Amino acid sequence: MSLRRKLTMALWLNAGLATLLLCLALIAVQSHQFRAQINERLTAVGDVAGANSAAAILFDDAKNAAQTLGALSTNRTVMAAGLYRKDGTLLAEYDRTRGDGFAPPKAAPPVGTQDSGAVFSVTRPVLLDGEVVGVICVVSGLQELYQDLLSYVAITVVTLVACTGLGMLVFLRLMRLLLVPIHALTQTARRVSSEKTYSIRARAGALDEVGELIGAFNEMLGEIELRDRELAGHRNNLEAVVGERTQELRLAKEKAEEGGRLKGEFLANMSHEIRTPINGIVGMTGLALATPLNAEQTEYLDAIRVSADSLEVVINDILDFSKIEAGRMDLDIVPYDLHEMVADTVKTLLVSAREKGIALYTRVDPGMARRIMGDPMRVRQILLNLLANALKFTPQGEVVLDVTPAGQQNEIPLVCFSVRDTGIGVPAGKLAAIFEPFLQVDGSVTRQYGGTGLGLSISTKLVGMMGGQLRVESELGKGSRFWFIVPAPLAVASALPEFHSLPEVVLASSKALRVLVAEDNLVNQRLTERLLQKMGHCVTATGDGAEAVAKWQAHQFDLVLMDVQMPVMGGFEATACIREHERITGNHIPIIALTAHAIRGDRERCMEAGMDDYVAKPIQVEALAAAIERASRSLVKENASL
Ligand SMILES: Nc1ncnc2c1ncn2[C@@H]1O[C@H](COP(=O)(O)OP(=O)(O)OP(=O)(O)O)[C@@H](O)[C@H]1O
Ligand SMILES: [Mg+2]
Repeated sequence: MSLRRKLTMALWLNAGLATLLLCLALIAVQSHQFRAQINERLTAVGDVAGANSAAAILFDDAKNAAQTLGALSTNRTVMAAGLYRKDGTLLAEYDRTRGDGFAPPKAAPPVGTQDSGAVFSVTRPVLLDGEVVGVICVVSGLQELYQDLLSYVAITVVTLVACTGLGMLVFLRLMRLLLVPIHALTQTARRVSSEKTYSIRARAGALDEVGELIGAFNEMLGEIELRDRELAGHRNNLEAVVGERTQELRLAKEKAEEGGRLKGEFLANMSHEIRTPINGIVGMTGLALATPLNAEQTEYLDAIRVSADSLEVVINDILDFSKIEAGRMDLDIVPYDLHEMVADTVKTLLVSAREKGIALYTRVDPGMARRIMGDPMRVRQILLNLLANALKFTPQGEVVLDVTPAGQQNEIPLVCFSVRDTGIGVPAGKLAAIFEPFLQVDGSVTRQYGGTGLGLSISTKLVGMMGGQLRVESELGKGSRFWFIVPAPLAVASALPEFHSLPEVVLASSKALRVLVAEDNLVNQRLTERLLQKMGHCVTATGDGAEAVAKWQAHQFDLVLMDVQMPVMGGFEATACIREHERITGNHIPIIALTAHAIRGDRERCMEAGMDDYVAKPIQVEALAAAIERASRSLVKENASL
């Protein structure tokens, strides 16, 4: 609603209210005055008529009394009258309207005035020589009053309408004077808000409140314009600062990435440098143990093998831990057989449990699905850590592995793995600390039981990556229970289980192959050579990639085992060289990478370089045999297709 309309409405409302109040006041005053006058008149008429009728009442002369009352017909105010004896009974009456509602009452009313709104009556005593002989009641109507009031109201309304109309004309002229500058101000404000230009100003008005308002508005615009300019300046400045900081951050990020890359490289090199000699020690000890030895030599070699095995475990743990820390550990989610994985894991610990005289039980709930999705190698690693701990810290009693369904989360089934023992337990104060890397309950643990304190921290991280949490409850001297719950989505029916317990490998290969081995480390070279010979293959060994390529060109081979890091020419370059030559001949010799590199992406890099398979060092006889078996099968297929 516009301001003009609001003000007009206010004016009419005001005038209407004033009219109403004035009318009400006039009506009140007028009716009061009219009543006072009529009261006076009727009292006078009553007193005169009463005095004239006193003798008629005294002698109970109704006829005379009626005549006296009839004389009242000359007075137009009197509508009716009644004369009453001393006992209150009606002696005579006069009724001008003859039964039109003004007839006097049948019994004498009390002395005074009666006002019913339509009828007004006055009752007076009739005196004779100062003594009351009866009463007279004179009745009048109030129509006259109402007619007067009606005309008053009409006059008032007409006058007020005329006055308000005139006032309206004046008001509208004044309004124009007032509203024009306000309207201009509104237009300016609209432009400012739609165009966002703070440089325009409203036209200055007269020296009144509106003029003051326009002045203040213009001042405010000036202020905003100034701030706007300052803000734009700051923004430009800020953009420059942000640009600078972004550049700094980018440099810092690049530096951090470079650091991460160097760390990764260091990890790869360290794994290579440490695993290669371990490979040699483990393999050679195995070979030496298979030769005729005296009891003392067997004992020493057994000790060497045990030490090398535990050294390998430590190195693997440190590598896993570093990989997790560097965020380079990925889960390999595949369908697998849960029951088989559990049985297989426990199998590896049965011997040590038996040697210690501890009962090792496994209970897989029959309701637990067989084929589920997950990373079987990592679940196995966690279970091995927990079971190894349980066996290590339990001098007598039992260790129980329970695998049970644990409900659902977001419609995905959950599985709970729990390892309980009757061992030494963990003090309550140390329950949180044992999950920290390199922390054990106290220093004596290492001395008494060995270990680096990494198993639980690696397991905690792995369980976390799987979306669960590794938990513990333990009572000192009574035993402990470690458990975790992780999602176990059901594998789709068509998905083949990719995890198998290691098959019984036939070490003697089905077919004797001519194998070219490229390996710079002499101990490993010799070890590989021996292993292959034991499998029944014919071996040619070389010390670097270039020599291997030359030998491959000069002689016929069925298979190449290629180390990755070698002097003169590395495994990747040698493979590329061989594959390049093969493009002309159309042949394809299987090349199996032999590498101590153990970090993520190595397998992919080998495949990209043109190799066909991958065997990690330290060489596991079974893994090598399986890879050779696959290669010889592919050779058979190739020959058949030729
Ligand atoms: N089942 C258990 N009973 C009693 N104490 C345990 C048990 N499992 C773990 N602990 C305590 O927690 C510590 C940390 O365990 P963790 O597996 O991380 O290291 P570790 O077994 O000492 O060494 P690592 O696993 O690296 O060979 C252990 O040294 C031991 O004090
Ligand atoms: Mg452990």
